[in-house]
Amino acid sequence: MKNVCAGIWILLIICLVCGCSSSGQPVRDETAYQERPQDNENQIVVGFSQVGSESDWRNANSESFRSVFTEENGYYLVFEDAQQKQENQLKAVRDFILQEVDYIVLDPIVETGWDSVLVEAKDAGIPVIIVDRQVKVEDDDLYTCWVGSDFRREGRLAGKWLEKYLESQGRGKDRIRMVTLQGTPGSSPQIGRTKGFASVMKRHKNWEMLEYQSGDFTQAKGQEVMEHFLKTYDGIDVVVSENDNMTFGAVEAIEEAGLTCGPDGDMIVLSFDAVRAALQAMEAGKINADFECNPLLGSMVSDIIHRLERKETVDKIQYVDEQYFDSDMDLSAIMDGRAY
Ligand code: AHR
Repeated sequence: MKNVCAGIWILLIICLVCGCSSSGQPVRDETAYQERPQDNENQIVVGFSQVGSESDWRNANSESFRSVFTEENGYYLVFEDAQQKQENQLKAVRDFILQEVDYIVLDPIVETGWDSVLVEAKDAGIPVIIVDRQVKVEDDDLYTCWVGSDFRREGRLAGKWLEKYLESQGRGKDRIRMVTLQGTPGSSPQIGRTKGFASVMKRHKNWEMLEYQSGDFTQAKGQEVMEHFLKTYDGIDVVVSENDNMTFGAVEAIEEAGLTCGPDGDMIVLSFDAVRAALQAMEAGKINADFECNPLLGSMVSDIIHRLERKETVDKIQYVDEQYFDSDMDLSAIMDGRAY
């Protein structure tokens, strides 16, 4: 009897800790539940699980959703910032399911680990739209569609730009020593940009990648990683930085070390995103080229939702338009016409 009682207590404690009901289903977290406004039953309720606010790009991306998914446009947006943690995103998606939102929009921090939660959303009959980064799942029917950037193409473009630039400088055959500040390991932009650049690098035996290290897409870590590179290696020719905020940190580290970068500097700097502050830094001569990642996904996702509401089919994969910028371009004119 003693053993049975102890067993019941252990079970109860496990259920409390794991958040399960006696049926094994997740317990609704009332603090996370947001009632759909009573007088707005016609609104489309969208739960958006955002990665975080680690970069200028990310903030522009959040703003693009906030400005489109408004009450005036017929939406009720439940916005959850995961602070760069997958566990927070998993919880957010489960909360959206409990809240019975009409659509879930997920920007997954990394590509793996989503199967179970997407099965739960599918079982609940809630369409999931993946944005920006991608998911790697057993069954692609677990999500409705994906919209975002071709990260591999961005990496390839950077490699090809460098190829041409070195040639134009008469350095095509020189030994070129490089370092890469990578994004969050396992995230689509990290994987795509690294692979895309590597596909060009393998054509050049004289290009030597000294080290890859993650700066997690943040300025502070970008600076730390660049400090480490500068202490470890002499004569770095090229810095590949997988986003603009890490580049800002890297430029600080380079300048603090008494070195220079950009078209007239000691090191060539290649960056990704092309946010306004990076184009300004390019204008100031600190970045050579920047490969755009378009954060303005809000209206594309809204169009997708409208199509789904009309029971129309949507393309499974949708890429956004992107270009690149370098210091030979008229950057002031370019910045005038840009939203980010
Ligand atoms: O997923 C897009 C990437 O994530 C952007 O390059 C970066 O700035 C962001 O944090």
